[in-house]
Amino acid sequence: MASVGQGIDRYEGRLKVTGRADYAADRRCEGLAHVAGVFSQVASGRVVAIDCAAAERAPGVLAVLRHGHCPKVKRSPNAFGSATKVGEVRPPFEDDRVYYFGQYLAAVVAETWEQAKAAAALVRVTVAREPIQVALDDGQWPGERKPDPETPDYSRGDPEQGWAKGDAKVDATYATATEVHNAMELHSTVARWVEGGKLEVHDSTQWVVGTRGALAAMLGLRKEQVTVLAHHIGGGFGGKLFVWPGTVVAALAAKAVKRPVKLVTDRHQEGTTAGHRPETRQRVRLAATKEGVLTLVRHDAIAATSKVDDFIEDAAETSKTLYRCPHAATTQRIVPLHIGTPTSMRAPGAASGLFALESAMDELAVALGMDPIELRRKNDAQRDGESGLPYSSKHLTACFDSVAKRFGWAKRKAGIGSMRAGTEIIGWGFATATWPALRKNSRAKVELFREGRAKVYCATQDIGTGTYTVIAQVAADALRLPVSKVEVAIGNSDYPEGPISGGSMATASFVPAVMAACEDALKKLKGGRRESVVGEGETAPGAERKKFSFRSFGAHAVEVRWDPGIGRLRVARVVTAIDAGKILNPKTAHNQIAGGIVMGIGMGLREESVYDSRDGRTLSDSLAEYLVPVNADIPPLDIEFLEFPDRHMGGHGGHGVGEIGICGVAAALANAVYHATGQRIREIPIKVEDLL
Ligand code: MOS
Repeated sequence: MASVGQGIDRYEGRLKVTGRADYAADRRCEGLAHVAGVFSQVASGRVVAIDCAAAERAPGVLAVLRHGHCPKVKRSPNAFGSATKVGEVRPPFEDDRVYYFGQYLAAVVAETWEQAKAAAALVRVTVAREPIQVALDDGQWPGERKPDPETPDYSRGDPEQGWAKGDAKVDATYATATEVHNAMELHSTVARWVEGGKLEVHDSTQWVVGTRGALAAMLGLRKEQVTVLAHHIGGGFGGKLFVWPGTVVAALAAKAVKRPVKLVTDRHQEGTTAGHRPETRQRVRLAATKEGVLTLVRHDAIAATSKVDDFIEDAAETSKTLYRCPHAATTQRIVPLHIGTPTSMRAPGAASGLFALESAMDELAVALGMDPIELRRKNDAQRDGESGLPYSSKHLTACFDSVAKRFGWAKRKAGIGSMRAGTEIIGWGFATATWPALRKNSRAKVELFREGRAKVYCATQDIGTGTYTVIAQVAADALRLPVSKVEVAIGNSDYPEGPISGGSMATASFVPAVMAACEDALKKLKGGRRESVVGEGETAPGAERKKFSFRSFGAHAVEVRWDPGIGRLRVARVVTAIDAGKILNPKTAHNQIAGGIVMGIGMGLREESVYDSRDGRTLSDSLAEYLVPVNADIPPLDIEFLEFPDRHMGGHGGHGVGEIGICGVAAALANAVYHATGQRIREIPIKVEDLL
């Protein structure tokens, strides 16, 4: 029986539940020293002096790294294509400037972590402070600019005419908060220099190949001289896609003391020097005929970035394509603030942008007096409005049908607050989800042994998503072996180059390469009797990408219960349908979508990182202050995959499912809150105070 399509248990599940899975910080090696950072307590200025005398005399201290006292490091080319992308382009200790609160100003290396931490507290830094701005204060965006002045803003048709043609119109501004990934596993690195001037790094990374490339570029090494290992990763969500200063500091510290070192970025630092989702302000204008046919989609988005990087949270992107509309325009601006560099966080751009667009669609439905699902059906696009290409596989209206049926949408009464259960007012909200179905180049290798066993190698990694399991399933089927006979070797940059675990592109990228490697091995096996054969596969997306637009789709219906007497808002039900092609493992895929929905509930109701306007400190820098949903916040999740294989995608016709789950959830929630209370909350997270 084919194993692909079966919800088999995780390949590494037993290791994880018995505590034997080795994460980066678990790495032990002889002579391991420990690093503790000294972080800026102001958000802007110039370092006048760093007094390390007391720290250097402290017990166990081996070195204190800082600007001017540190092994040489260069800037990385910082390009995705050459696998040299970094989270923060400025290497630690590059100059004497302070760009954000929590920036590395020094790092103490000592025999034990306690000694390093104690000595770090003895380092005295004097900074000449300068004025700061750490938030997008309403209507005040000094320094607002176009990230790429050369590229014109997106526009099609005649937006002015589209607006004029509308019988019903929405013009509203939405806001999303700063969010921090806060993966369970902290960013951690164990770095050691081995013979021949080579560097070996155990790192909690979503991209062993990219971490290798960036470190090699920064340290002036050939990439063959760097090995990056990541056997198990305790969540990434985008926070571990690219190299952050902690990893670089670890490599520099190991070089300075000529010993292996360990550096763990603590929870307080997660939102400063290790990325976050930046806050946005988004103005959306929609116009439609009285029949509900869209005549304009206009989306103008502004997002925060840091003073050292132009990160773009491209919130307007999905508005170009989600609905059929002849007239559309988008702009994307950035505002550099005195904060750490933002980065991708689960469905970057789309999760933020769909909160605005899908809230605006709900406002338009109200203005038209139309059912919100009906409005979306009316404007379903058969082609990608931006490229003009047909979709490779799109079943969005089937998602609407599936959600409406399972949720019981037909029983919805349109009137605000018209549905009640005891003291609670019931609200039903709806939203569409979409995310690109990406695929990149990948290589893979398989060793096939005579006794009916195989080992697959690929330089990709499993961030908790099911990569080990899916590789074992795909190889088992291709080789006609039981899954238990396939060993999976990933999380090592020395293996054949595989994809990043990001952008929901890993599975669709490595599956064809694993299949090709297996075919190659079987072909070689026929050639003669041998103890073992090695098959190699190398695959890339092709001409199909020029003929079709590849996207995943979905829909969510959310029920909230608002109890005005005690001021309690809770999510009572979520019903979701996902159209992401063939599902290779329903168990791990369900887990991804459920995780995305939970994160969407967090985005809508809980998660917010706040900077202190006086010193730029992150006020919510622990899991006590940075609220994420707990089990009691999460209702039963009813998730269905439509499972139409995408025959243009390659492999088994599956799209990635890491990000589609979060898309639209916050809007469906806000729309449900409006239906219950009549309060249109345009700023997330929604707080109970907003409803009183
Ligand atoms: Mo995802 S934000 O590409 O890990």
